[in-house]
Amino acid sequence: MSNTKTVGKIEKFDEFNGHQIDKLTLSNANNVSISVITLGSTLYELNVPDQDGGSRNLILNFKHSQDYFENPFYISMGIGRTGGRIADGQLVIDDQQTQLPQNEGTTTLHGGPHGFNTQIWQGELGKQDGNDVIIMHHLQKSADDGFPGDMAVTITYTLSSDNVVSINFAAKSSAKTVFNPTQHTYFNLGKTSDIMNHQLKLNSTQALKLDDKKIPTEDRIDVEGTPYDFRQTKNLGQAIQAMSATKEKGFDDVFAVNPDANNIIAELKDPETNCAVAIESSRSGMILFTANSFTHDHMNFVRTDGVGYPHEGVAMEPMILPKPGQDRDFSEMTIPEDQTVAYSIKYHLSF
Ligand code: BGC
Repeated sequence: MSNTKTVGKIEKFDEFNGHQIDKLTLSNANNVSISVITLGSTLYELNVPDQDGGSRNLILNFKHSQDYFENPFYISMGIGRTGGRIADGQLVIDDQQTQLPQNEGTTTLHGGPHGFNTQIWQGELGKQDGNDVIIMHHLQKSADDGFPGDMAVTITYTLSSDNVVSINFAAKSSAKTVFNPTQHTYFNLGKTSDIMNHQLKLNSTQALKLDDKKIPTEDRIDVEGTPYDFRQTKNLGQAIQAMSATKEKGFDDVFAVNPDANNIIAELKDPETNCAVAIESSRSGMILFTANSFTHDHMNFVRTDGVGYPHEGVAMEPMILPKPGQDRDFSEMTIPEDQTVAYSIKYHLSF
């Protein structure tokens, strides 16, 4: 009898700074497999069968651990304690201000210089309903990243028999702190080196207006009649081209999202391969980053054999929608002391 369960394995990926980095893989009966490396709890592969009997990796990855730190793009890495930007690194919880370490000029981006992505996680295989699952553990210490509280974090990756990848982030902290994690997955569902021919739909009517440091302001952009309007499925490349007069020359934006009845917030498809991903999240925001500033150098991608290309992938990063930066209102992402809080992101794959 063939095995209809999801099965896992662990193997060595490489060495980084004197530490062994492992790769953990789950495979289901449909020839779909996912893998995660212990460096940064980084999603390494989402492999689906292609039409020629081979397999296609739907996300961007690098050849070596070191490659992940040769550029500022957090390629498919685990992000925390908080995704997005904290203005001037000034965190406020209950009127108490904490000065966080900064890693983008004066800003604290994606958890700062010692965020989840920089940590080596302890990876193991576990069981859920008879299926293997990938579990990553890490104790994120206040002394290391400057946020209040020592936070025990577990990220669990599962792959269902109907090709849903689910990522569950659970955290418990020794003091009140903030938690708004995400996975910085860059999708490229096609055969080419960019996502310009992909189609995108977003359940969003507004994006946040950002200042020149990309910090959210109190102003909103109504998407109607603008390139930000993805309410109906449309070609992503044309939308990016419509942004060519902007400084960013594409999207690096925070959308307010309205999860539908099934908590779907975004759907991406490549019409050539027919591969698609629907993103499920119950949180109120999502960053859309179309990799506008990717360069040829310092981007040792497996897909394009060591060279990077602008728009090589698109990142959609579910998170709690940030409040205007200067308001310093972190209440929605604040978690109590000693209580487990969890968020999940699901990728529904089709091919
Ligand atoms: C940010 C971009 C940044 C990218 C990679 C996105 O979430 O909004 O500005 O370049 O992550 O770090």
